[in-house]
Amino acid sequence: MKAAVLHAIGKPPHFEQFLDPTPGEGEVLINVSAAALKPVDKQMAAGTHYASPREFPVVCGMDGVGRLEDGSRVFFGGARRPYGAMAEQTVVRRVQCFSVPEELDDVTAAAIPNPGVSAWLSLKHSAKLAAGETVLILGATGVTGKLAVQIAKILGAGRVVAAGRNEHVMSTLHELGADSTIRLDKPDEELIAAFRREAGEKRFEVIIDYLWGRPTEALLKAITGKEFAIGESETRLVEVGESAGATITLPAAVLRSTALTILGTGGMPSWDILSDAFQQVMNSVARGTLRIETERVPLAEIEDAWERDAHAHRLVVIP
Ligand SMILES: NC(=O)c1ccc[n+]([C@@H]2O[C@H](COP(=O)([O-])OP(=O)(O)OC[C@H]3O[C@@H](n4cnc5c(N)ncnc54)[C@H](OP(=O)(O)O)[C@@H]3O)[C@@H](O)[C@H]2O)c1
Repeated sequence: MKAAVLHAIGKPPHFEQFLDPTPGEGEVLINVSAAALKPVDKQMAAGTHYASPREFPVVCGMDGVGRLEDGSRVFFGGARRPYGAMAEQTVVRRVQCFSVPEELDDVTAAAIPNPGVSAWLSLKHSAKLAAGETVLILGATGVTGKLAVQIAKILGAGRVVAAGRNEHVMSTLHELGADSTIRLDKPDEELIAAFRREAGEKRFEVIIDYLWGRPTEALLKAITGKEFAIGESETRLVEVGESAGATITLPAAVLRSTALTILGTGGMPSWDILSDAFQQVMNSVARGTLRIETERVPLAEIEDAWERDAHAHRLVVIP
C-alpha cells in the first residue's frame, strides 16, 4: 500500500510503498478515506511530543475516517505502530472506532473530532463551564481555538473573549460567537492592560489556553491581585497547547492572590464522557451550529503539505 512514511525524527514523511497491515486480535483493518494533518502529527514527527516514535520507519497520522471490511464508515484513532492514518490502509483496535453520521462528508468527519472533541472536553469536562460564565480562549485563531469559541457559546457561556495575533482571522471571530477580541501582538504592558479590561470586575472564570509561553505570562500578570481579597470568584485555566512556547515562568503571587486553578488535559476521560463529547460535536457539525474549514490534499503530496502553514483551516490528506 501507499503511505506517508517517516524515516527519522525531524524530517517530513515520504510518500512511498509500505507493508500492508494485518489485523491482530481485537483489531480491525481500515480502508482509509481521509486523515487530518494536525499539530500533534507534526510534533510527533519533530520529536517534540512526549509520545514521539522511537522506531522507524513508521507511518504518520494519529486518526482518520475510513471503511471497515463490512463497509461501515468509522472515525478511528490510535493505529498500531508502525501503521498510521496517512495510508491507504491501517489497523486499530475495534473499540477505537466510532460510527460517523451519514450527513457528514469524509473530509469534515476526519477534520473535526481531534480539535472539536478536545475543545468540548476542555470546556465541559476539565473546566466544568457553567452557563453564563465568562470564557477567555487564548489562541482563538487556530483551528482548535475557533472551535472552542463556538463550543463555549453552544455550552452556554455568557461572554466569550477571543485572543490571537492573526489580524485576518481575528476579524472573523465575532461571526463565530466571540463577544470581544484581544490582539496579542502588542507590547507587554498594553497586552496586560487589555486582559485586565476584558476580564472586568467578574474576572475570567474559564481560560482555555492553546498558546502557553509569553501570552500566558502576560495573562497571569494581568490577573494577579494587588491586595488581600476574600470570596473572589474562581478562575479555571485549562492548558491544552503550546503554540507560543513550551514553558512559562509562574509567579507564586498569582497563585496566592487569586483563586486560580491550573488544569491539564492529559489522561483519557471515561469512555462514556468521550463518546458523549464525540456525538455532541458530530451532531453540532451535522446541524450546522459548528463549523470547520478544510482543504483536501492528495497523499502523494504529503511532503509539500507537511511544510505548509495552513492558517485557521485544516489540511486533510486523501489516500
Ligand atoms: N491536547 C489536545 O487534545 C489538543 C487538541 C487540539 C490542539 N492541541 C494543541 O493546541 C495547540 C493549537 O492547536 P490548533 O489545532 O489550533 O493549531 P493550528 O490550527 O495550527 O493553530 C495554531 C495557532 O497558534 C497561533 N500562534 C502560533 N504562535 C503564536 C504566538 N506566538 N502568539 C499567538 N498566536 C500564535 C497561530 O497563529 P498565526 O496564524 O498567527 O500563525 C495559529 O492561529 C497546539 O499546540 C496543539 O497541539 C491539543
